[in-house]
This record gives sequence, structure tokens and C-alpha cells, in this order.
Amino acid sequence: MESPIISNRRLQTDYCEIVFRAPEIAARAEAGQFVHVRIDDRQDHILRRPFSIHDADPAAGTISVVYKIVGFGTKALSQLTAGQTCDLLGPLGRGFSAPGCGAIPVAVAGGYVSAALFLLRKKAQLPGVLLIGARTGDDIILVDRYRASGFDVRIATDDGSLGQKGRVTDLLPQLLADYSGKSLRFYGCGPHPMLIALGRQLRDRQLDGELSVDHKMCCGVGACFACVVKVNAPDAPEQWRYARSCAEGPVFALDQVYLGD
Ligand code: FES
Repeated sequence: MESPIISNRRLQTDYCEIVFRAPEIAARAEAGQFVHVRIDDRQDHILRRPFSIHDADPAAGTISVVYKIVGFGTKALSQLTAGQTCDLLGPLGRGFSAPGCGAIPVAVAGGYVSAALFLLRKKAQLPGVLLIGARTGDDIILVDRYRASGFDVRIATDDGSLGQKGRVTDLLPQLLADYSGKSLRFYGCGPHPMLIALGRQLRDRQLDGELSVDHKMCCGVGACFACVVKVNAPDAPEQWRYARSCAEGPVFALDQVYLGD
């Protein structure tokens, strides 16, 4: 669907936000889902790239995507301006489920992929928590939006330049102490090693949640098998199988995610 660009601006360092007019996607978008964006780089290359949906406003008919300029496709995307259009497919994939009555959503994010968890606030009955970690403070974005939406935001950076020095999972013990006796539901999104570390900590503490476990995507709609990830399969000989993250995921229940031995 051809979707006009409303705005495309830099948020911080290499991080940008693009807003599209896409009423049909805005009406159905959920946290954790993505859009497949066709980008014409003006050099006869037509690229499709998956991007998590950051926010959606059904009343205005708009969605936004937060992205980092990391290469060819995202550089071309950053050069598009208001009034131009992109072909969008979406919303695609399986998103996060609602926290459930009385549960506090705890979003755990590695870097700017915190963008993919922002729509959780629309499903939650209670204000949530955001645990966000990154290498440096320059990679911590969107916390003002989370705070303005009522989230208790806690930050960790590898170099200690913002928040607590360490990994995002190092924030868990204090969180659990502060929210002792409360019902928490965890939602993880970030680099694979972070998700595995988070998943193991949640499993060991008998906490429940969902993780967004995606892999490099190509078609985005379940046809090419480029995006497979391992998921638990108790009936399979190895007790795991491959699942297409674009179609069966990217969000999987914690007990489905293959965490290794
Ligand atoms: Fe093609 Fe998932 S990207 S099957």
C-alpha cells in the first residue's frame, strides 16, 4: 500500500523517526508487529526492509517507525522527505499479548529496539516499567516518551555513561525487590544474546513473559524461510524445531524460545 510520509526526522545521533499515513495499518497495529517497507534508493535499487512499528494513532491514521542509519537501505530511507511515499506491507507478524488483568508490563529492551515495545501501553491497564540497556548513553533513546506515558524507566549502559553500569539484565534484581508481591509480565526485545540472558533469568526465577526473537528477514511473509529461529518442540527428536520468525513470530512465549542448555 502506497503510504505518504508525514515526517522523517533525526531524533538523536543516527536514530531517526519516520511517520507514515497508513490508516489500515494504524487501525490494527500491535506492539511487536512490523511493517515491510519498500525503499527506492534512487539508484535503481528497490529494497524491502522490515521495521518494528513504534507507535500507531488510529484516529489520525498514522504509524511511526524508529530506525538507526546503519547501511544502504536505512541511509536511503533517511533521505526521503514529507510528501514522498513508500509501499508498506503490514502490520505483519505476531505481536505481544496483553499483560492480563492486574499485571504490570515490564518491557526489557536492548538499545533503540525499545521502540518496538511502546505500543504496550495501549494494552496495559497499569503503568509499566521499562528496563533499557545499551553500550553508551548515546544509544538510549525514547525514554522521555516512556516516562511521559507513566513508565518507570531504569537504564543500564555498558560504560556507565547513563544509568547503572552493566547489562540491562543487571537491573532485574532491584526491580524484583521494588515490585515484590506485584504481578509482573515481561516483554523482551533486543539482540539475541541479551534475549537469551533475559530468558534464562526469567525462567530460573519462574517469571513469565514473551520475547521478540527475530532474524534477518527477506520476504517478511513466511515464504522464503530466511528468518528461521529455533523454538522448543518437545515432540521433535532434538526437542527443538525451526520457526519462521516473520510468520510464527517475531514474538514467542518464553516457554517456546529455545534458550540452549
Ligand atoms: Fe521469508 Fe520469514 S522472511 S519466511
